[in-house]
Amino acid sequence: MGTGAVVLGLAVISVLAWVGFLAQRSRVRRRHEADPLNQSFFMDDDTMETRRLNGILSSALVATVVLAIIMPVYYLSESGRQEAAAARFDEIAVERGHEWYLEFQCGDCHGPSGGGGGADFVEARSGLTTSWAAPSIDDVLYRYTPDEARFWLVYGRAGTPMPAWGAEGGGPLNEQQIDELLAYLDHITISQPEMVGQADSKVDLALARLVGADDSVAALIERQQAEIDALAAAPGQLDLIGDATDRLEALLTNPATCTAASAALYSLPCDDPGADGDGDGLTDAAEIGLTGLLAEVIATAPAGDPVLVLQPLSFDPANPYTTGSGGTPIADLEGAKVAITEVDNIVRNLNLAVANADLLAAGAAKGLAFLEEAAAARRWAFDFESLADAFDGDAAAAQRAAGLFNGYCARCHTAGYSAGVAFTKEAGSGAFGPSLRGGRSITQFPEFEDQLDFIIEGSENGKQYGVNGVGRGWMPGFGPVLSEADLRLIVTLVRALP
Ligand code: HEC
Ligand code: HEC
Repeated sequence: MGTGAVVLGLAVISVLAWVGFLAQRSRVRRRHEADPLNQSFFMDDDTMETRRLNGILSSALVATVVLAIIMPVYYLSESGRQEAAAARFDEIAVERGHEWYLEFQCGDCHGPSGGGGGADFVEARSGLTTSWAAPSIDDVLYRYTPDEARFWLVYGRAGTPMPAWGAEGGGPLNEQQIDELLAYLDHITISQPEMVGQADSKVDLALARLVGADDSVAALIERQQAEIDALAAAPGQLDLIGDATDRLEALLTNPATCTAASAALYSLPCDDPGADGDGDGLTDAAEIGLTGLLAEVIATAPAGDPVLVLQPLSFDPANPYTTGSGGTPIADLEGAKVAITEVDNIVRNLNLAVANADLLAAGAAKGLAFLEEAAAARRWAFDFESLADAFDGDAAAAQRAAGLFNGYCARCHTAGYSAGVAFTKEAGSGAFGPSLRGGRSITQFPEFEDQLDFIIEGSENGKQYGVNGVGRGWMPGFGPVLSEADLRLIVTLVRALP
């Protein structure tokens, strides 16, 4: 802006000076009204061809030099100015993309900085609530071109927790906001060495998941069994403490055990207040009664948050304070409020469990049957012994190949993989991406190297691949993501899948 203003200023001044000069000249001439120019004496040749000519040439030279300096300086700073404006524009896009990332809670699923996470999901076959793995997206632009990534933002991914965000997909964001999100994704993209360096830890995680699979499914079965037991116990528990809410209210509002303050917790008056030794708003009788009642509820109620909140509460007629959650002392009257809320929660949950007993029991039993079947079938497992043949007996290579496949490919090519090990079907059984089992990938790519090239490049929308594949641009390219040695391991594994 500085140079531009100076140039403009100089130009305006020169024009004004020129106009002023002309005006002056004409006025001077008119005043004299002398002889016409062609008849009047001007300068002699000496003056005109030396002094005057030199003067004019020098000023022309000066003007040329000034222009020669100012123009390039202006030109250079102008392009810099445009670059700075473009950079600022990008910066604003990134900032706004970050706002959308926060506002639309991408981080709840993909992690606060895009490193990956999970989303609660009800798995259809089992009816169980599980966590569906959400991939890292601080590296998505290595796998997908910006246009391919845009497709997922606009349309989401059906059958997974990834919602559609773009207006065309029925989502809340317009095109510019999607652009800004992409600018933000670009901004948080990790370096390529960092991404390639993650391969080992991804492989380790994937292999650890296989090693711990039996235990983790067993833990799910145990949890499911506990839920079934809790449902069965609910009617008995309700018989014992179903009236706890009413008994609590009676203690705090009945004549002789109420105070004005305790009855006010139920928006009721206290007609006949009892003795309140420690002056904390709860009568001595209410404090003793409350302690007994809570002990009963805690002993009977199913384990859970409400019981945990009730546990530290204890009411002593000689002490105006009790202990709140987190171990901090709170006034007894505050403690009574907490007791009212949590006892209410416990009794309401028991009532719900009993009222919907049949439905809940059927759902829980279905979930348990699913898990038990999965534990027996162990579809997630690799038969490493027979797989090793494909790797010339190199068991370590076969292991690494399985870790790589599960770490990078299974979420799209193995049904149920993202929902967790209990829901995982056979490796390469086909999900969002086609099945790779049963020699299918050899039919599609008779040559090893062609398949390797495809996995390096990924698919392109509308472009044919293999023998009869037509890409939609949905298969990411792994060339920038994994080393060629690792990719060769994966291709060997894929071609050996039974
Ligand atoms: C409710 C959870 C959830 C939210 C919220 C969410 N995503 Fe996703 N997203 C997923 C899941 C799950 C997947 C992977 C789906 C699958 O398993 O194929 C995914 C996939 C993606 C992909 C494709 C990545 C790939 O390699 O397959 C991108 C890009 C993406 N999300 C970006 C975003 C952005 C940006 C936002 C915020 C506007 C967002 N997501 C919000 C769950 C979520
Ligand atoms: C984000 C999901 C996704 C991931 C991750 C993914 N793929 Fe794919 N893959 C696809 C889709 C979808 C197709 C079908 C092509 C298309 O729709 O563009 C495909 C196609 C293929 C094909 C061709 C299959 C055929 O018969 O047509 C092979 C082989 C393949 N993928 C291997 C892999 C391997 C190996 C990995 C891991 C390194 C992998 N894919 C990771 C989604 C994925």
